[in-house]
Amino acid sequence: MDKIIVLDYGSQTTQLIARRIRDFGVYSDVLPGDIPFREADWTDEVKGIIFSGSPYSVYEEDAPMFDPAWLEAGVPILGICYGFQNLTRHFGGRVEALEKKEYGRSRITYREENPLFAAIPENFTSWMSHGDSIKIPGEGFRVIADSEHHIAAAFHPEKRIWGIQFHPEVTHCEYGIAVLENFVLKICGAVRGWSMSSYLEQVKADIAARVGKRPVLLLISGGVDSTVVGGLLLKSLPAEQVHLMYIDTGMMRKNESDEVARILKTLGAVNLYLIRAEERFLGALQGVTEPEKKRKIIGDMFVRVQEEEIGKLDIGDYFLAQGTLYTDLIESGKGVGKKAQVIKSHHNVRTPLIEAKRAAGLIIEPLDKLYKDEVRALGKLVGIADTILFRHPFPGPGLGVRIMGEVTKERCDILREADAVFISELRKRGLYDRIWQAFCVLLNDRSVGVAGDARKYGSVVALRAIISKDGMTADVYPFEMKDLLEISALITNSVKEVGRVVYDITSKPPATIEWE
Ligand code: XMP
Repeated sequence: MDKIIVLDYGSQTTQLIARRIRDFGVYSDVLPGDIPFREADWTDEVKGIIFSGSPYSVYEEDAPMFDPAWLEAGVPILGICYGFQNLTRHFGGRVEALEKKEYGRSRITYREENPLFAAIPENFTSWMSHGDSIKIPGEGFRVIADSEHHIAAAFHPEKRIWGIQFHPEVTHCEYGIAVLENFVLKICGAVRGWSMSSYLEQVKADIAARVGKRPVLLLISGGVDSTVVGGLLLKSLPAEQVHLMYIDTGMMRKNESDEVARILKTLGAVNLYLIRAEERFLGALQGVTEPEKKRKIIGDMFVRVQEEEIGKLDIGDYFLAQGTLYTDLIESGKGVGKKAQVIKSHHNVRTPLIEAKRAAGLIIEPLDKLYKDEVRALGKLVGIADTILFRHPFPGPGLGVRIMGEVTKERCDILREADAVFISELRKRGLYDRIWQAFCVLLNDRSVGVAGDARKYGSVVALRAIISKDGMTADVYPFEMKDLLEISALITNSVKEVGRVVYDITSKPPATIEWE
């Protein structure tokens, strides 16, 4: 399968470059910008290379540089923004700081016909985000487009290197996709071969070949990623070989465990272990109110229960399957650039089991090349329902981090009921899919209310609903007041312990999405 390599210098839109290319049917991989060429597993399937943008200026001391050996790889190269500036510097041109950073739309005009601009009007609106610009092109480069104030694109005919100052991967860039298509399909000659159904066939064959006749164990959380891996394993191997374990901590959402079991059975699971560990988890949490302590107890208990239960299975030298995504590798700094920020460490939990299996070469991670929305597309192909695939994210410690103060069975039940009303109302009102994550939080205080003539003290529930792209920042969902009022009344009417409902109107930052 033909492939384009994107070398990442830390731009926020690097991932979009690879996404756009995959979207039009050519496989694309992101590698750290400073990776030496000889370490990059070069194959003839690589048809072109793209150097991404960066928050750095080429003149900064620790500015990331490319290995010049990439220029000798014999395939066309496209530098975007910083990538273009870095190439310019390498070829002896001049890059200078702009007086004022250019950010946003910018008209550009090309000077001559060039395959990069094939079937694109001579004058179009591009999208720029740069503090430096190219004053003098590198040796051997010819300027092929200008913006109002600077060089917008240049081209080195002998070496087949293109450079552009604008960002074709950003949706505001008119003809951005066309520019990328021109580079990938026309200039590099890559053939479209990447589609989710072809990937499914490939991944099934890979799993079967790698695993052979050994058993595979998958710990299912009920979330999208592990469920899709479960479906994939069941499509790739005889069902007897696939062992699926799900631990009910007592802090799951309403009916969640039964629903997970039902789905896995429909997918053909036969070795399904539903571990009911509510008493152990809640027992360990008794009297504990400190948030970090709660998290630690839940995490440690997960590991202990898993180890004990896996020990009981007696399945020999098994493979451990994991739902690691492409972006998890990036976030943990493994896939891409040392410069990429390491953001959510709690998403890359390392347990002794995972470490041991990794060391023994017995880990399979069939989603590690995929972005989240590609995982959903794959999930659809293996027959998983949209209600699972488009479910809001749910934290590992479950309701444990949504109950302020002590976690007890009674308090879990109150929160579970209130949350179920909230979520089912969002679905009924057609709001669920517009919201990135919504849930209820149970506060630690009780609040006074009236019941008939008497005063009554009830629990306080906070509603949280946010919109976000990736959970790193979030905005509050702007509900219609009517929806909030009706949902509040439904919760207080159907969950008798709840006496008051409030709405959390804090964005992230400064607040986090979860309350603990
Ligand atoms: P915060 O609260 O950090 O949440 O703004 C960002 C996203 O991460 C989820 N989250 C967790 N997920 N284990 C997880 O697996 C955790 O301990 C955890 N804490 C927060 C949160 O639900 C949101 O989607």
